Amino acid sequence: MAKVWIWVSVAIIAAICIGVGVWWYYSHASPVSRAPTPTGKWYLVVGTSPDFPPFEYVSKNGTIVGFDMDLIRLLAKKIGYKDIKIVSMDFDSLIPALLKGKIDVIAAGMSITPEREKVVAFTIPYWHADQAVLVRASSSWVPKSMADLSGKVVGVETGTTGADYVKKFASKYNIKVKEYSSFVLAVQDLVNGRIDAVVMDAPVAKMFTHKYPVKIAFVIHTGEVYGFAVRKSDTKLLQALNEALKQVLNSTEYRKLVEKYFGSG
Ligand code: ARG
Repeated sequence: MAKVWIWVSVAIIAAICIGVGVWWYYSHASPVSRAPTPTGKWYLVVGTSPDFPPFEYVSKNGTIVGFDMDLIRLLAKKIGYKDIKIVSMDFDSLIPALLKGKIDVIAAGMSITPEREKVVAFTIPYWHADQAVLVRASSSWVPKSMADLSGKVVGVETGTTGADYVKKFASKYNIKVKEYSSFVLAVQDLVNGRIDAVVMDAPVAKMFTHKYPVKIAFVIHTGEVYGFAVRKSDTKLLQALNEALKQVLNSTEYRKLVEKYFGSG
């Protein structure tokens, strides 16, 4: 009888030792172990161009915040990432940076277009927008159509859908297009009188009217939608983002996020 107990004790001690050993190995001895996420990293590397309030902008204390940043962080955490790392650059550099592997996802109020879909993969849409034409608040000249912009200098952000739209009409209506690396610089030039108008996404134009002495002259109904973009080869990441996004879009968490950045109106 005593022998049986000895064997049972030996077995229990052996099991404990193996358990502790395995735990120790995975928690200490394996620093290169990959994270169980679609990219194998603990952090999702997010690229953005923070000149686009309330989607992404630089806060008073210098950090990059906004609706897109909160939303992509929420999705990343649902997928299993510890957090996101934000990399800031000009809007125009985002797709090249994604393709080079410098970032893993673009969160920049980026409209889903057929041209972009040739090179990157988009998630399901999370927002819709039109384009708006901004002029100085004090201006008595208030254009109502693209034809009214004839002979004027119109500021756009390089690489945006707004820039493409204005360029399409440039020769027809003799519009001078001035490209900027950032919407903030374009709006500052508008305020200073260096240009006559700026074309940008309507929700962002509305935010700028609260921050600068500018007003919306008219809206161009393009009906574009925003998605997050990943490399086409990152199919697992795309699928995970889409599943998380589907869940989040119907949640109270999402409604709170909309409320936080857009208010109730
Ligand atoms: N929605 C427009 C586009 O995709 C403008 C996006 C600009 N975004 C930004 N973060 N500056 O072209």
